[in-house]
Amino acid sequence: MKRTIIITGGAGFIGSHVVRLFVNKYPDYLIVNLDALTYAGNLENLRDIDGSPNYVFEKANIQDTAAIDAVFEKYSPDGILHLAAESHVDRSIMSPMDFVYTNVIGTVNLLNTAKKYWGPDYSGKKFYHISTDEVFGALGSTGFFTEETAYDPNSPYSASKAASDHFVRAYGETYGLPVVVTNCSNNYGPNHFPEKLIPLFINNIINGKPLPVYGDGLYTRDWLYVKDHARAIDTVYHHGKTGETYNIGGFNEWKNIDLVKLLCRLMDEKFGREAGSSEKLITYVKDRPGHDRRYAIDATKISKELGWKPSVTFEEGLALTIDWYLSNAEWLQHVTSGTYMQYYDTQYAKR
Ligand code: NAD
Ligand code: TYD
Repeated sequence: MKRTIIITGGAGFIGSHVVRLFVNKYPDYLIVNLDALTYAGNLENLRDIDGSPNYVFEKANIQDTAAIDAVFEKYSPDGILHLAAESHVDRSIMSPMDFVYTNVIGTVNLLNTAKKYWGPDYSGKKFYHISTDEVFGALGSTGFFTEETAYDPNSPYSASKAASDHFVRAYGETYGLPVVVTNCSNNYGPNHFPEKLIPLFINNIINGKPLPVYGDGLYTRDWLYVKDHARAIDTVYHHGKTGETYNIGGFNEWKNIDLVKLLCRLMDEKFGREAGSSEKLITYVKDRPGHDRRYAIDATKISKELGWKPSVTFEEGLALTIDWYLSNAEWLQHVTSGTYMQYYDTQYAKR
């Protein structure tokens, strides 16, 4: 094999698309998927590539130093794509310490292991940390996040990601670890766990359940199709400059309520239901505490320097996403049973 790459969080939403892209596109790379299989990790996401000769799965928790060391010892990786994280803002409000343990301590553990096995020479190595635009905090009605925007996180999730970004940067500066960081906007697409807005609402429309819109519904997010994020990660891993950060976004801002109405319209068309049927499910509920009003990414740098841009429009991406959920009822049924239902009942009980 030409290269060995560890992808952490490869059984999750974005990670599974990155694993699939790398396994299929680079048959001469060995791809090691390192994942603890938390509630959000699901090997069903990777059934199609499971038997590939250049793919292996290692169940390990990034908080466990000995386990991470053992994986490095076994595979002598050239690179890490680090996606493993606790990723849901509402859960971070309920249980912030889980986010500190995985996102902060887990990331520092990985950095220490990389430093121990790769240093002090580091030639040919790369530690690529995948982060979020939420570290920049909230925008007013105008402006964009650039790579120069100061960090200003508001939720326990974004604070933990901000802390991990700072540690990655510090290991680059202090120890010379070859690091690169990207900050991406909200992803959507197949395999998205149905606790986040788009898959939750698709699932609720399928089941005729209320669509709980937080606050006034005028919060704004920039949405990117997950496969376009995976393509961006491939581009940055191979062509991004060491020590740099890149913002990744969809040039695609939507107010939540407008997005929900579009989703309702597309689902009504899919099901051949009378126009307006799904919109009747919209229910305004109590707002999320510390809710960031608006995110918007200026992705000029990655576009100009590395030639990446999104490949699908939002309407195309949403249609592909809805089709995926409708033809993967079994996947949806598996991930919405058991412990997920306990979370759902707690999160939405009092709203
Ligand atoms: P996800 O929650 O779907 O998946 C996370 C994966 O990490 C799961 O497979 C889980 O089992 C694994 N994991 C969690 N804790 C672990 C631990 N302690 N040790 C090993 N594995 C562990 O998350 P996602 O939405 O795919 O996000 C992936 C990464 O991308 C995260 O770092 C997230 O912050 C970042 N990101 C996400 C978005 C988004 O819109 N989802 C946008 C920008 C950046
Ligand atoms: P989410 O998918 O949780 O992503 P993030 O908080 O990381 O941006 O939420 C996207 C937006 O949708 C955010 O403004 C919160 C809102 N939202 C709701 O209105 N209702 C819901 O049930 C959820 C999960 C989110």
